[in-house]
Amino acid sequence: MNIPFLDLKAQNSALKQKILLIWEKILDEAAFIGGKYVKAFEEEFATLTHTTHCIALNSGTDALRFIFLALGLNPGDEVITAPNTFIATTEAISQAGGKPVFVDIDPGTYTLDPGKIEAAITPKTQGIVPVHLYGQPAEMDAITAIAKKHNLWVVEDACQAHLAEYKGRTAGSLGRAAAFSFYPGKNLGACGDAGAVTTNDPDLAAIIAMLRDHGQTRKYYHAMEGYNGRCDALQAAALSVKLKHLPLWTETRRRHAQRYQELLHDIPGLTLPLTAPENLPAYHLFVVQLENRDFVMDALAKKDIATGLHYPLPLHRQEAYAHLHLPVGSFPVTEACAERLLSLPLYPELTDEQIVFVCDSIKEILG
Ligand SMILES: Cc1ncc(COP(=O)(O)O)c(C=O)c1O
Repeated sequence: MNIPFLDLKAQNSALKQKILLIWEKILDEAAFIGGKYVKAFEEEFATLTHTTHCIALNSGTDALRFIFLALGLNPGDEVITAPNTFIATTEAISQAGGKPVFVDIDPGTYTLDPGKIEAAITPKTQGIVPVHLYGQPAEMDAITAIAKKHNLWVVEDACQAHLAEYKGRTAGSLGRAAAFSFYPGKNLGACGDAGAVTTNDPDLAAIIAMLRDHGQTRKYYHAMEGYNGRCDALQAAALSVKLKHLPLWTETRRRHAQRYQELLHDIPGLTLPLTAPENLPAYHLFVVQLENRDFVMDALAKKDIATGLHYPLPLHRQEAYAHLHLPVGSFPVTEACAERLLSLPLYPELTDEQIVFVCDSIKEILG
């Protein structure tokens, strides 16, 4: 049975007519940049995340970058984050003028370990960026308490956590601001690149809205130098169509994750992901740990089951961060995970038959 890692074609074909209808209107109106479709999506996404402001952008990377630029980092300012994230988190910190400082993760949830944060705080630390990795919120209360104590801001990297909940509160509303990605494979994905910032801070929202549009306050009047970081109308309209399905898709992801938990429990050599009791994850990814990960991955591929690695090499071991001089052993939990983690197929369109086949195949491979 062929099981792709992601089945965007299935999702898109179900919504194709609705999306094409709106795109035809936009083509007829020739209103591609800004305008009512972008504004409508921003309002809808702010409502969904229980925030007062959403600024639609062209990527999650720009969402992070604009937040850090708006918060104002001076050269040498330090920002704490996890080493097991996509490089966009730290690129954005560096490109806004700061320096990423890594703190290891919790071995159960794979999110920033609050117990290790204070040791990394220096007089140059400005903020903390918990990454809600795989769709599971980080331990926000503990992180927020540390931030308050040291007068730091907290920015959520919620790029993988659309509609995830922490103590009944929605990801995106848990810090000073949050970044979301609508890269096509995300839980809410555009038909191209897109992203957004959510925040309850009107001043921050106003600066980010200027940053995305060349620092303009009105056409050709520039309060500052900015960027071209806008979300276009075609993407916003497609996102509005998809957003209506996101609550149901998220529920389905949770059901699928539950099914994996039931079918894969008690298998020697396989560790299931841990969900913190205060969390309702969005399950962007379902990631298990395997002692002989590469062997299992190859064997699954031979059975036509696609899997993924998130991420094969921790950021502090990447060539891009060689200048930070962080040797092997700097973040042992992250390093151990990088060798053992395997992401299984998980998307709303997955059938129960496919989940059972994946689990039976893993059991067979592990003997
Ligand atoms: C954790 C994390 N942060 C940031 C990003 C960057 O988002 P984008 O690809 O939309 O720029 C992604 C998505 O790839 C991500 O997974």
